[in-house]
Amino acid sequence: MSKTYRIAPSILSADFARLGEEVRQVIAAGADWIHFDVMDNHYVPNLTFGPMVCQALKAHAQKPDGTPVPIDVHLMVQPVDALAQAFADAGADLISFHPDASGHVHRSVQAIKAKGCQAGLVFNPAQPLDVLDWVLDDIDLVLIMSVNPGFGGQSFIDSALRKIEAVRRRIDATGRDIRLEVDGGIKADNIRRVADAGADTFVAGSAIFGKPDYRAVIDAMRTALR
Ligand code: DX5
Ligand code: ZN
Repeated sequence: MSKTYRIAPSILSADFARLGEEVRQVIAAGADWIHFDVMDNHYVPNLTFGPMVCQALKAHAQKPDGTPVPIDVHLMVQPVDALAQAFADAGADLISFHPDASGHVHRSVQAIKAKGCQAGLVFNPAQPLDVLDWVLDDIDLVLIMSVNPGFGGQSFIDSALRKIEAVRRRIDATGRDIRLEVDGGIKADNIRRVADAGADTFVAGSAIFGKPDYRAVIDAMRTALR
């Protein structure tokens, strides 16, 4: 498995009135990716931001020395394809979608890759992994939801650990470098368990943006992962 752990703060819990600054601050504090939660008030009961906001933040998604930091777009929208393409045009680096929100999952994956982005599939807590039988070889990332999508600040659902273990086995069997990301309820005090189950990439919203010192939280997460 990949041993390079990545921490992807979710700006869903950032101060929306100061998003660019928040992105810069959390990167300066050690963020590896910026997780960008797109909600459409249809697939999920909440509404966030669209491609124009992604485009506006692209210039801020870099380290102080100018190294770009990937924007990890998590689409909670239905249908998928048109918005996925709009986010690719807006500077997204990775684009993940929920397979149950797309009528043609393989086509959506190919459309994202044709735009030069990495493609991921997202699984809700009660959703089976069967679709991976047919598309795992085509994707770059699997994102396991450890809360029901739509809101930050929810509690981690423990059955996600079993699902992460199952995905880890599937990924290892491919021999390919596919990221295994987990989203929802991740904190410094449970991140180790999630990593031990097989995850290598960790979304955290409220745990980071809910505290005044982003670096202290990210450092505590890295210490727990060590
Ligand atoms: C929920 C989003 C998450 C959210 C996680 O639908 O996909 O990315 O920001 O928030 P926390 O880390 O607060 O559970
Ligand atoms: Zn998310």
